[in-house]
Amino acid sequence: MQGKRPLMASVLLSLFLISLHLWLCFAQSSPPNFTRNDFPSDFVFGAGTSAYQVEGAAAEDGRSPCIWDTHTHAGKMPDNSTGDIASDQYHKYKEDVKLMSDTGLEAYKFSISWSRLIPNGRGEVNPKGVDYYNNLINELTEKGIQPHVMLYHQDLPQALEDEYHGWLSPRIVDDFTAYADVCFREFGDRVSHWTTIAEVNIMSIASYDIGVFPPQRCSYPFGVNNCTAGNSSTEPYIAIHNTLLAHASVFHLYKTKYKAFQHGWIGLNVYTYWYSPFSNSEADVKAAKRARDFTLGWIVDPLVFGDYPKIMKKIVRSRLPVFTKSQSEYLKGSFDFIGLNHYTSIFVVDNSVEALAMPIRDYSSDMLAKCTVSKNETPSGKFVPTSTPYHPDGLRKMLEYIKQKYKNPPIYIQENGCELVTEDTMNDTYRINYLNGYIGSTLEAIRNGVNVKGYFVWSFIDVFELLDGYRTRFGLYFVDFDDKELKRIPKLSAHWYANFLKGKNIIGLQGGHSVVLDLELK
Ligand SMILES: *[C@@H]1O[C@H](CO)[C@@H](O)[C@H](O)[C@H]1NC(C)=O
Ligand SMILES: *[C@@H]1O[C@H](CO)[C@@H](O)[C@H](O)[C@H]1NC(C)=O
Ligand SMILES: *[C@@H]1O[C@H](CO)[C@@H](O)[C@H](O)[C@H]1NC(C)=O
Ligand SMILES: *[C@@H]1O[C@H](CO)[C@@H](O)[C@H](O)[C@H]1NC(C)=O
Ligand SMILES: *[C@@H]1O[C@H](CO)[C@@H](O)[C@H](O)[C@H]1NC(C)=O
Repeated sequence: MQGKRPLMASVLLSLFLISLHLWLCFAQSSPPNFTRNDFPSDFVFGAGTSAYQVEGAAAEDGRSPCIWDTHTHAGKMPDNSTGDIASDQYHKYKEDVKLMSDTGLEAYKFSISWSRLIPNGRGEVNPKGVDYYNNLINELTEKGIQPHVMLYHQDLPQALEDEYHGWLSPRIVDDFTAYADVCFREFGDRVSHWTTIAEVNIMSIASYDIGVFPPQRCSYPFGVNNCTAGNSSTEPYIAIHNTLLAHASVFHLYKTKYKAFQHGWIGLNVYTYWYSPFSNSEADVKAAKRARDFTLGWIVDPLVFGDYPKIMKKIVRSRLPVFTKSQSEYLKGSFDFIGLNHYTSIFVVDNSVEALAMPIRDYSSDMLAKCTVSKNETPSGKFVPTSTPYHPDGLRKMLEYIKQKYKNPPIYIQENGCELVTEDTMNDTYRINYLNGYIGSTLEAIRNGVNVKGYFVWSFIDVFELLDGYRTRFGLYFVDFDDKELKRIPKLSAHWYANFLKGKNIIGLQGGHSVVLDLELK
């Protein structure tokens, strides 16, 4: 895993075993001009983080290890880092919420650490864990910032991994539901947007096919690590099967026990690129469609139609678990919104001849396609070798695709953002142009009838990144990880976002416009 590519992009790209340079390509046309007021009034703009990546206090106040603690303590990160301290939001939440308020954030998306709330994964609740999330939520609501809560962001309690291999076992359904029950009971009076699981497709691929995320399972000849256990041909499918059933169980729990008086919404989060055929050949066009079905359809088809995409059943056959009729009914309609993480677009090349000739296949080769970042695109902007490739129109296309395919469900863009490792850490004009383009693309989708309800920048502050540790940064606020105080400093993008949220006319910087530095930050 060399290179500093966008977090989840890295995972899927390595999955396709393609190594390439990421070229930055600015669109030739001038960026859209718009203001906050061009969006519907009930639309929310926010930014996000996740528990393991931001909280720190890993062994404090009764928290027990999650699989990421085990992973990082085994020295698995490229920079040998851990989330032991991370951005220390556990101790600095008041300061961070103040920054959110100064920025004009309308919502903050964060996740709850399961092993902080229920250290053994099931059973006894840790009162200090309840206190922490109560304090954070109260601080947010007092400042008028909506809490949007992710129940699970890659951080399974190690106890459940040790006991029954977590998501590989159907036993996860009851434990996850019991954990969600505690969250709804304790926090549901103030939280109305709940997402069950972050990037379920990435979790499965990264943990059970290519083995880069804990518990690092894969099987020869698949995966980027020589895993000691796993089965890349079957486990990615088993994990998703259990994940979907766990999600549906939580949805039904909320609906029967809480919805009538808490009036909240439950969603599931999926990671997508926009997939374009590499060429106009029929084979590539079909391959792009397969890639959409294998990544997005794998997760969302069961929630809308009650079953996996036909093409997956045809290719994966007996390795794809089957939903019973009652499970299928249980899944159908089990969401109030789709949470989407989207960073960039990729091109898809048909690979069916080679893949079908393989003696065994894994999830990645089952797609019968290879993906590549760029197609002969000449960089027209400043070359930034380590940044998220800029294809804002891909977001609009993905949103319109979801509208058409899945009956126009409400969608929250829960992660969109830009990785940068440059000398211009603070003067992050590339990030500003990137966000400007993607927010503009979202507005276009809304004007075309897509039911998008919110947009969250990843990440509010710099955090521990799951692939690269502290080597890459996505934050609107710089965190000085070398400073004992972990000082937060607004990047130019924080000023830019603040201006936008205050209703100012926002223009990307490509035309030479500058950001007005009028954000007072103490
Ligand atoms: C945005 O505004 C700038 C300055 O007012 C203008 O030059 C540019 O053409 C506008 N771009 C679009 C896409 O309308
Ligand atoms: C990684 O960190 C651990 C402790 O955090 C330390 O014991 C070990 O020597 C480090 N390894 C490298 C290669 O720096
Ligand atoms: C995996 O094992 C092979 C053969 O034993 C070795 O050549 C390779 O370097 C190993 N890869 C990793 C990532 O450890
Ligand atoms: C993976 O599971 C399949 C189906 O049970 C089995 O045929 C195959 O041998 C397993 N592969 C490994 C590496 O265990
Ligand atoms: C940021 O960089 C751009 C070009 O790289 C430059 O024009 C601008 O003056 C810089 N802004 C600040 C605040 O340093």
